[in-house]
Amino acid sequence: MSDAPLIQLDDVTKVFVTGAIRYEVLKDISIEVRRGEYIALIGASGSGKSTLLNILGCLDVPTSGHYRLEGEEISAKSDTEMAHIRNRFFGFVFQSFNLLGRYTVAENVALPMVYHGLGRRERLDKAKALLTRVGLGEFTGHYPSELSGGMQQRVAIARALANNPAVLFADEPTGNLDSKTGTEIISLFEQLNAEGTTLVVVTHDARVAQHARRVLTLADGRMLTDKQNSIAELTGA
Ligand SMILES: Nc1ncnc2c1ncn2[C@@H]1O[C@H](COP(=O)(O)OP(=O)(O)O)[C@@H](O)[C@H]1O
Ligand SMILES: [Mg+2]
Repeated sequence: MSDAPLIQLDDVTKVFVTGAIRYEVLKDISIEVRRGEYIALIGASGSGKSTLLNILGCLDVPTSGHYRLEGEEISAKSDTEMAHIRNRFFGFVFQSFNLLGRYTVAENVALPMVYHGLGRRERLDKAKALLTRVGLGEFTGHYPSELSGGMQQRVAIARALANNPAVLFADEPTGNLDSKTGTEIISLFEQLNAEGTTLVVVTHDARVAQHARRVLTLADGRMLTDKQNSIAELTGA
């Protein structure tokens, strides 16, 4: 059990049906995610990256195939059980930061901790520690609108870390940021991975992919390549 991959997909497919149209978005995907990895998931728009990320993060279920978490098959779990798994194992960051404007930065980060039964004081203390970790220890009492886009995304990352997730999933995390600001996020991911956080990042940004240790390339719903450190290829060098 202990040496089982954190996440294992075997022959996973995803089919969306709209009216008479059956659209096979993922085809025969078999991959493993191990603890401590830093994986970039790249591919053209519409290739199935977000769909695969959602399946890996138990936000969606495969149409067929197997999903194993720490060696245990979870394909048949209910919505409640999936939510429980997400809460316990995963954190998510998206292109839009989705912070709540009425709450301070620290309160935004503390919100997910409510589900873990921590008291208000404990939640805010932990939120402050997480904000310090992402370089925003001075901004705990500010409101999201007072921060730059890059800082808001760092708040969202701190919030995603609130429940000590085994995997941090990010879908186009630099998509709304200029390239200089995107660099802040890339450095932060490197730091978090060095500290032991497992990362799976969907990205169009070659610079994000360059810093990952492993790069998965999707093409038309299939896994085209699965490579360690293919820097030269990504930069076109
Ligand atoms: N809920 C859905 N219903 C129908 N089609 C969908 C749905 N979600 C995604 N798709 C289709 O699946 C394909 C892959 O989508 P997506 O995983 O979002 O790709 P990517 O993130 O690589 O751009 C797209 O053609 C998209 O239109
Ligand atoms: Mg997408």
